Amino acid sequence: MNEKALLTYLRAKLSPSRYEHSLGVAQTARELAERFGADPQKAYAAGLAHDLSKWMEPDEMLKYAAARALPVDEYERCDPKLLHAKISASLLKEEFGESDEGVLNAVRRHIAGSPGMSLLDAVVCLADWIEPGRRYADVPKLRETAKLSLEMALRDALAATMRVLLEKKKAIHPQSLESYNAIVWMIERKEVFK
Ligand SMILES: [Fe+2]
Ligand SMILES: [Fe+2]
Repeated sequence: MNEKALLTYLRAKLSPSRYEHSLGVAQTARELAERFGADPQKAYAAGLAHDLSKWMEPDEMLKYAAARALPVDEYERCDPKLLHAKISASLLKEEFGESDEGVLNAVRRHIAGSPGMSLLDAVVCLADWIEPGRRYADVPKLRETAKLSLEMALRDALAATMRVLLEKKKAIHPQSLESYNAIVWMIERKEVFK
């Protein structure tokens, strides 16, 4: 991946706060990777890139997905901004030369996780929640939990995401619930992300 070109792009295309958020997620993902045994370089790369297409308007996202034959589900059709994960992965590969499927998957899965997600996916997904710029009420507790258990912290982050959506009377993507269930079962079986 061409990190310098990606940084220039992010600074030009994203709002200052989203640019700072991207740097925060990259740094936090690297720290979590060091803590839990994922590849710190890959975590940093995926964190930096995870929101790289978030500047696109919803119409533009739908057009991009159609042009690349990216699958669009009914939730993404209703809320095209959800496509930013898939589109960021696609741009990261095409424009910035990222060829590592682990990094690309971590970008693709950063919103809702995925049942069977990897350690790297989990680290990037959690970093998106707890990077230093995040101010949600749940975040201080999540940061504490993240010092002890990646699985428990990500379970709680997914629960918090779904709780926020319920409070806003918004639809919940079934992938968030599937990821949550998968992690609950992992914890019951005393398994950890690999
Ligand atoms: Fe995102
Ligand atoms: Fe993000």
